[in-house]
Amino acid sequence: MKVEEWVVREHVEGAPDVARVYEKIVKDVDLELAENEMLLETLYVSVDPYLQGICLDTPVGEHQGADSIMRVIGAGPNAMYEIGDIVEGFGGWRSHVINTGEEALWRTGTFPMVFPRYRKLDPHDYDEGLPIATALGVMGGPGMTAWGTLTKFMTINSGDTVLISGATGTIGTIIGQMAKHKGARVVGTTSSPEKESYLRGLGFDDVVVYRSGDEADAVREALLQAVPHGVDKYVDSMGGPITDVVFSMLNINSQVAVCWQYATTVGADYVGPRLLPYIMFPRTTIRGIFSIEWFTDENWEALHADLGAMVRRGEIAYDQTIHDGFDNIPAAYQSLFVNRAASRGKVLVKL
Ligand SMILES: NC(=O)c1ccc[n+]([C@@H]2O[C@H](COP(=O)([O-])OP(=O)(O)OC[C@H]3O[C@@H](n4cnc5c(N)ncnc54)[C@H](OP(=O)(O)O)[C@@H]3O)[C@@H](O)[C@H]2O)c1
Repeated sequence: MKVEEWVVREHVEGAPDVARVYEKIVKDVDLELAENEMLLETLYVSVDPYLQGICLDTPVGEHQGADSIMRVIGAGPNAMYEIGDIVEGFGGWRSHVINTGEEALWRTGTFPMVFPRYRKLDPHDYDEGLPIATALGVMGGPGMTAWGTLTKFMTINSGDTVLISGATGTIGTIIGQMAKHKGARVVGTTSSPEKESYLRGLGFDDVVVYRSGDEADAVREALLQAVPHGVDKYVDSMGGPITDVVFSMLNINSQVAVCWQYATTVGADYVGPRLLPYIMFPRTTIRGIFSIEWFTDENWEALHADLGAMVRRGEIAYDQTIHDGFDNIPAAYQSLFVNRAASRGKVLVKL
């Protein structure tokens, strides 16, 4: 059987030049499945800026890993799932996958990382209100990150000022809207005026347009206007200069959720915790968020019952930008870096 894969051809730091980094190969694959293996057909793959780090840790010649939705089309007698089942897992940029679906250790990664066991998607959980593709977005890892941050760490009180950097993705938009429901004043940062209107349309009270390279004084000035009474809760995906400024604005008993640090990971701007005195006086709690810890059957059910129900009732809006076709995966991925104004919410490719 022929299987298409996008493999890593070269390791390139910074924003990816996909023409250099990736090569499409077609493999002839032997279809003899072991008794616990499945053959899966990929339906959707996720493209995310964090894949840049995964790519650098992927040995040259191996496929690009990524979250995906797959259908089981072949199964050994003791396989985890049956033919016809739809699953979500780290299948990668491949047209087909042969795998047991078991949890797998990321052996070449910079960070100790485990790819979770493939998760079976119950078709009853999905319909027009929540299409199956949301299993990679609002009903998937990003949704769990947003919901978990607010239900398991961050306490939002009415009147709190919540600031979210890099707010236009699934995590920022969901946290922003959930915090609004709890009576908070919500402010987001984004990179373009188009996305500013998008965030305001979702109910954000104010938006700071920030691009990497902006002068620290200008960022401070903009933030002072947007959050004149300081920051009670900070959800950070950017890091770098914007976070430096926010640290000096933290209120008593503030909380900071570190979801990602684009400035360091993509921009190679290695800023560090040299601002710790700023967290001492306000007794701030900073917590790293790594949502895989919440990937349990119980939490997936609770996510559907809680956030899923809010989406169905129209209380929370979510967005997806869906590109089409296996050959377009690298271009869809590159758009995250070169055409950021074009994407809304979760960015996916339908195969
Ligand atoms: N810690 C965890 O467990 C966990 C789990 C899932 C995801 N994450 C991370 O959390 C962050 C938010 O996730 P998400 O799914 O909501 O959003 P996302 O789609 O990955 O990105 C969120 C926003 O970040 C900005 N952004 C994108 N690429 C960037 C780049 N190269 N440099 C600077 N800014 C960039 C964009 O906003 P603007 O264009 O508006 O600036 C984008 O809308 C991501 O970094 C993701 O990797 C963490």
